[in-house]
Amino acid sequence: MRKLLPALYRRYADGLIPADARILGIARSQLTKDAFADKVEQKCRQHLGEAFKDTVWAGFRALLGYVKVDATHPADYQDLSQALAGRADIVRLFFLSTGPDLFAAICRELSAAGIVTPTSRIMLEKPLGEDGESASRINETVGAMARESQIYRIDHYLGKETVQNLIALRFGNSLFEPLWRRGQIRHVQITVAEQLGVESRGSFYDRTGALRDMVQNHLLQLLCILAMEPPANNSADAVRDEKLKVLRALRPISEADALLKTARGQYREGVIGTDRTSAYRSEPGVDPQSRTETFVAIKAEIDTWRWAGVPFYLRTGKRLQRSVGEIVITFDPVPHSIFSGPFNSDPPNRLMIQLQPDESITLRILAKAPGEAMRLRPVDLSLDLGESFKSRPLEAYERLLGDAIQGKLTLFMRRDEVEAAWKWIDPIRAAWDADDEDPKPYAAGSWGPNTAGALIARDGFTWYDETF
Ligand code: BG6
Repeated sequence: MRKLLPALYRRYADGLIPADARILGIARSQLTKDAFADKVEQKCRQHLGEAFKDTVWAGFRALLGYVKVDATHPADYQDLSQALAGRADIVRLFFLSTGPDLFAAICRELSAAGIVTPTSRIMLEKPLGEDGESASRINETVGAMARESQIYRIDHYLGKETVQNLIALRFGNSLFEPLWRRGQIRHVQITVAEQLGVESRGSFYDRTGALRDMVQNHLLQLLCILAMEPPANNSADAVRDEKLKVLRALRPISEADALLKTARGQYREGVIGTDRTSAYRSEPGVDPQSRTETFVAIKAEIDTWRWAGVPFYLRTGKRLQRSVGEIVITFDPVPHSIFSGPFNSDPPNRLMIQLQPDESITLRILAKAPGEAMRLRPVDLSLDLGESFKSRPLEAYERLLGDAIQGKLTLFMRRDEVEAAWKWIDPIRAAWDADDEDPKPYAAGSWGPNTAGALIARDGFTWYDETF
């Protein structure tokens, strides 16, 4: 209701969904088609703001339908089959926006009901499973009823305009390539911070936690795009092969390492802006004794010629001070400074790529401050992408739904990628589960627990919070 239907509305408003297409809501609630359409209207109005137009809405509403299906009741799928009857020549996209524990059952039933046509696509929301084993079980079941080329494992971060821009920055310009390696880059930070708490998803989140909800997918995908070798072309497999190599080269974090290389926290009460917010443990659906982490920081290392010795610090959390998605690449300092005095060799050059809320690329260099003395000061070369290109960027789900209908797989995760990501995540999870300590508490509105600062300080660095 917040992301998918508004995205479909926008595609329709842009003339990209034909009038004979259908959008069927499928859920357990007993709803009439009209009641469903009313709900969609209310949510689209709320989330689209000015982009919602009554004139467009009438046409969009006519595409909507609703079928009540309990995912675990085989008989219900006959109703779905009836709703789709006579339309087998039209591309079908089954979007499984459910918990991963239902993926296998839904796929089995769709297949048994005979409604997965050769041109159908199955789209799976992340997280795919809750560990490597369950992911591989899901992949087996889905793979038994559809070819890999029909399976779209979604990570909406890959659909973000800014993430596309990262690819453009790296592979559309020759400028950065010689610098994009050890010996030039000191360290990299990837932060996805949210002010939001767990909203109405407490029971899902409490079983999932930040490591599975954000790191296994979004943060690792960002890391892959930053660290991968240039693919030979932009085709799905060329790009996914390169990302897979990064995932496979991630140095495993053993149980013994986990306490040094990771930090986890859980939010308590606090103040965000002017609002007092409650503790994670008192959110609806959350166990009052919960040990689930709402904040994670990890030091990742990639064992390749390009990246040996360059730490990648990943950090994500809920109820943090600001909502921001940012990649900060810190370059090596000059080998020898010819200037004396403070500020003359520090801080180092930085490339900062802000993914959200604003889309910008900033290169921090040192320049001489006006005046008699040779005093260096940091100045920013900044590119505001929103300002440079006036047109509206596509929302991640708009692009991804469009790509899936057109059969473009580049921005979706392949089976081996997902499994390689879990292989790196599982030992971290196991180490935390074996640890008697709870995640460290942090106040809502802060930057997470002190242990996150300690993690990076051990290497002599600090989190880049200047812009926050
Ligand atoms: C989702 C997570 O995948 O990404 C949510 O399940 C999180 O917990 C969301 O809030 C963040 O996405 P975005 O696009 O708002 O950064």
